Amino acid sequence: MNALTIIQGEHRNLGMTLMCFEKLLLEVKNQRRKPDALLFRAILSYIDSFLYRFHHPKEDDYLFPVLCRRYPAAEELIQNLQADHHKGAKLCHELDETLTWCESNDARFIEFHATALNYIRYERRHMGKEETEVLPLAREHFKASDWEPIDSAFSKNDDPMFGKEPSQRYKQLSTLITNVCIFNDPML
Ligand SMILES: [Fe+2]
Ligand SMILES: [Fe+2]
Repeated sequence: MNALTIIQGEHRNLGMTLMCFEKLLLEVKNQRRKPDALLFRAILSYIDSFLYRFHHPKEDDYLFPVLCRRYPAAEELIQNLQADHHKGAKLCHELDETLTWCESNDARFIEFHATALNYIRYERRHMGKEETEVLPLAREHFKASDWEPIDSAFSKNDDPMFGKEPSQRYKQLSTLITNVCIFNDPML
């Protein structure tokens, strides 16, 4: 599979995870569901273990440098996206700390809810910029030989939830995401 297809697939999977996260937050806020720290932690752990350890580092190491070389006018855009990668990882860790703080007291959930919604918006905006600006520029300016190392790097990614061998750890979350995002289950 080529890198463009893999990157778009990974964005789609992250988008579904964020959508499920947002719906869970709403269910808890509207008191239709009790806060489930294990489920929230599984979401954050999946994002941390895949987005920040595989997806973003490969964009930083393989995709972005080639774009700056082939199309130097994209340099500022790429610098901003790389800064997003660092900030996103920091926000995710802070969110995990907020979750720990809220875990023992449901009344504190409002704090987690607000921080989590900001984080969801942040990662959506980041992905949106890559989809609408970076990928079209790469399609336009890369030579066929540029894609070979990028294709090879991204094809080694193994997603622990949506990949070939999903981890047991994400089984409950993956079922929920399928029901919410594919079968449009309102979670009630
Ligand atoms: Fe990125
Ligand atoms: Fe990305």
